[in-house]
Amino acid sequence: MAELHFACDVSEVTPDAAKIVRVKNLSVGIFKLSDGFHALLNICPHRGAALCEGPICGTTRATDDREFHYDRAGELVRCAWHGWEFEIRTGEFLVEPNIKARTLPVTVEDDKVFVRL
Ligand code: FES
Repeated sequence: MAELHFACDVSEVTPDAAKIVRVKNLSVGIFKLSDGFHALLNICPHRGAALCEGPICGTTRATDDREFHYDRAGELVRCAWHGWEFEIRTGEFLVEPNIKARTLPVTVEDDKVFVRL
């Protein structure tokens, strides 16, 4: 059964980069988004890079008007090895949602971030 494990203090996580922590001997990225804290296992499902060490970003989308718009800023992490973009909240690969980085449930208590693992 999964248990809660201390990850870090709330003050250690900023919106511009994941806080990388070790939980039960695993590397985990803690992210601060507009709706709160999220956690991803720090392993890219493509080839195993340290996914959470990549930049937090948005993505470029085509419109019906043959234009491109940059949107979803701050909601994605881009793997540093081959540029695959993943939704931080769900772990879904943007191009193929069936490919997912592993998400971990997060709880915040007394200004401390815990993950369930
Ligand atoms: S290892 Fe992450 S995109 Fe290839």
